[in-house]
Amino acid sequence: MSQHEKVNILMVDDQPSKLLTYEVMLAELNENLVKANSGREALEILLKTDVAVVLMDVSMPEIDGFELAGIIRQHPRFQKTAIIFISAVHLTDLDRLKGYQRGAVDYISVPVVPELLRAKVSVFAELHRKALQLETLNRELRRLSTRLMSAQDEERRRFARDLHDGIGQELAAAKIMLDGMLQQPRGAAKERTIGEASEIVDRAIQQVRSMSHLMHPPLLDEGGLFSALRWFLEGMTDRTGIQTSLDLQPPEFPRLAPALERAMFRIVQEALTNVFRHSQAKTACVTLVQKENSLLLSVRDDGKGVAEETAQLRPGSIGVGISGMRERARELGGELRMKNDNPGTTVEVLIPAVIASAQETFVTA
Ligand SMILES: Nc1ncnc2c1ncn2[C@@H]1O[C@H](COP(=O)(O)OP(=O)(O)O)[C@@H](O)[C@H]1O
Ligand SMILES: [Mg+2]
Repeated sequence: MSQHEKVNILMVDDQPSKLLTYEVMLAELNENLVKANSGREALEILLKTDVAVVLMDVSMPEIDGFELAGIIRQHPRFQKTAIIFISAVHLTDLDRLKGYQRGAVDYISVPVVPELLRAKVSVFAELHRKALQLETLNRELRRLSTRLMSAQDEERRRFARDLHDGIGQELAAAKIMLDGMLQQPRGAAKERTIGEASEIVDRAIQQVRSMSHLMHPPLLDEGGLFSALRWFLEGMTDRTGIQTSLDLQPPEFPRLAPALERAMFRIVQEALTNVFRHSQAKTACVTLVQKENSLLLSVRDDGKGVAEETAQLRPGSIGVGISGMRERARELGGELRMKNDNPGTTVEVLIPAVIASAQETFVTA
């Protein structure tokens, strides 16, 4: 929901002329004004529409304002709906109390001062808008945390499979060979088996290393973002066959704050994982541009492109990967954008006001 998505304000009065007056007074709030000529009509509207605030006359012929408030409050959905009573007669404290007991929220007396009416109505309208925004955000959060949990499960499953099918198999083979060696007499055959077993153990060590490095690349802390990216891109090309390139501007790229380097690395990792999983691209290009007061990262592929709603980052069309990239960008005060490049997709992250953590630079050559 955007910052000012209109909310509904229900005005209830048996006199059409008064409704018109309120309408004129409230026009500049730029909300949806809904009119009802009786309590009954108001109830019908309430049942069909999401109303932020009800503005009602205390004295109406069929059902008076207090009665109407009582009926409204009985409905669970409207227990918190804000009600502003307008009263032509002087309200005693007892009357006010009666109103509050029914959950009324505010009073305004006649003659109605337009500024006062607008101020009261806009406070409730704003509250309602905030409540709706919060509801939307909560829904989104719940959806994401469910997806996060299943993404975590999926990652564990992948990790378990890699351990079992890769390292587990290699170690099992090495063990069989070692056990066999116990029975073997000394000689060339035994030496060969030792050599093979040693190679198998080497492969297992290599796998452990690359798995652990993918989980947290040590180069990131030591050599910085550029070294880690170069290592990751090379590995990606080896694993997937997708040609990758890294373009740094300026070529002598400065070291950045550690949190920023880590976030940038994870964003590239996620974006390239998507390139591999979804794009059918042959090439992917990572560009990092350091401007005077900002940092621009882009990951471009020449694959099949993304759906428009995904590029717009609409909830429901993006998964944990894109939401995660967006969150990382937001945490750094930046913004994530996705574009369909026809052909291909570009993921861009713009981080304003980047403060380099150290003055040292590293050379790309
Ligand atoms: N580079 C890309 N090329 C084509 N489609 C993409 C690309 N990146 C993302 N997508 C689309 O966006 C969707 C959401 O991505 P993401 O949030 O990472 O979740 P997931 O990868 O788990 O599906 C993907 O399912 C895919 O359809
Ligand atoms: Mg993904």
